[in-house]
Amino acid sequence: MVFNYLLPYTNLIFGEGSLKSLGSETKKMGKSALLVTGRSSMEKLGFLDQALRLLKKEDIEVFHYNKVLPNPTVEIVDEGARLALEKNCQVIIGMGGGSAMDTAKAIAVVAGHSKERILSIWEFSPALENPLPITEAALPVVAITSTSGTGSHVTRYAVVSNPETSEKPGFASEYMYPRLSIVDLNIVKTMPPELTARTGFDTLAHVLEAFISRKSNPITDLYCLKAIELVTKYLPLAYQRQDDMEARYSMALADTYGGWAITAATAALPHAMSHPISGYYPDIDHGVALAAISATIMEFNIENGDQKTIQKYCQIAKAMGKQVKEYSKKEAKKSIEALKELCDKIGLTVSLGKLGVDRNKIPEMTKGVFRTMRRGVENNPVPVTESDVESLYNKSL
Ligand code: NZQ
Ligand code: MN
Repeated sequence: MVFNYLLPYTNLIFGEGSLKSLGSETKKMGKSALLVTGRSSMEKLGFLDQALRLLKKEDIEVFHYNKVLPNPTVEIVDEGARLALEKNCQVIIGMGGGSAMDTAKAIAVVAGHSKERILSIWEFSPALENPLPITEAALPVVAITSTSGTGSHVTRYAVVSNPETSEKPGFASEYMYPRLSIVDLNIVKTMPPELTARTGFDTLAHVLEAFISRKSNPITDLYCLKAIELVTKYLPLAYQRQDDMEARYSMALADTYGGWAITAATAALPHAMSHPISGYYPDIDHGVALAAISATIMEFNIENGDQKTIQKYCQIAKAMGKQVKEYSKKEAKKSIEALKELCDKIGLTVSLGKLGVDRNKIPEMTKGVFRTMRRGVENNPVPVTESDVESLYNKSL
């Protein structure tokens, strides 16, 4: 087997209280920073103040941009980039969930490349035929995660929506890896149960998909199997008890493994199909969209998969606590059973119909999958046509 594994240049600082490194580590990258957050959670919980204090203590000039909404848009990114340029920021810090961290990464791209004129993030969109390339001109990024789900604190991706086209592509570049990544368990433990459930499901989806991806390799397989075990055991515990620190630690670790796994092996069809759902319905959360379609896609992959794929789904079933007697389709389907049981435990048994997805939108969403999320389609272990995707959406209603 031949594979490549790029080790990203990310300094990961992980554990309770790790936020305290923010000032001293950021100082190595620049003297002025834009701190990007969502509207309220980080402020209410007191982490915004802590971050500002830590940065100022090191004489870093810091500006705050707090307009990030879930499923961030081109407009949100571009406005933040203009602020970064106006204030001459040298480092972009994202503190919050995937939305805040992705917005920070995207701002770093726009601000870093806007030399002759002020660019828009959409000019770099993989949905375009000839997007601008993302180069080393991107500013350095610090990611401080407040959820355990997207893996964005260690990935080379940023997901940005364009409401004008209903597209939600994943921008990807090795120049978007955060230089510094902080996972402070005191921050992630503040997630309420519902957010814990849907972000935890996102992590599970990453490792389930990267494990069966055509680009999977022995290194990503290690991350995936371990993370599948961790999520199965600890997500229900973190959901039940906010301050179960062993559960929080394990979910944060699984989130990090998941980020590295999708970076090297990519996600597969569920992610490719979930992005157009939030693209057309911005109020549908990423993790919830995944929960509504993942089991149906697993069934399709097992029914149509080759021997290697069946074997992998059997390994998933085992990692999720099922007894597997042999490598067969029947045994592989125990992975679906385990997934459904887990969803029940965390209150995430949902369908696209219940979420308000209209059957008439499915043909457009299908086109979106092939236009903006090709990577996930191509790396699915079973080749899929537009009509397969349409029927999978319909089955998930
Ligand atoms: O906006 P604020 O006020 O901060 O509130 C947020 C938001 O309302 C709140 N929140 C976050 N941390 C909290 C908290 N509330 C209480 N306590 C905390 N500790 O939760 C809400 C959702 O936040 P959001 O950032 O949208 O959630 P998540 O972390 O699930 O991120 C989702 C975004 O990440 C993208 C998704 O597509 C979506 O746009 N992804 C990014 C990836 C990447 N960059 O590698 C990969 C993923 O597959 C995913 O696509
Ligand atoms: Mn995801």
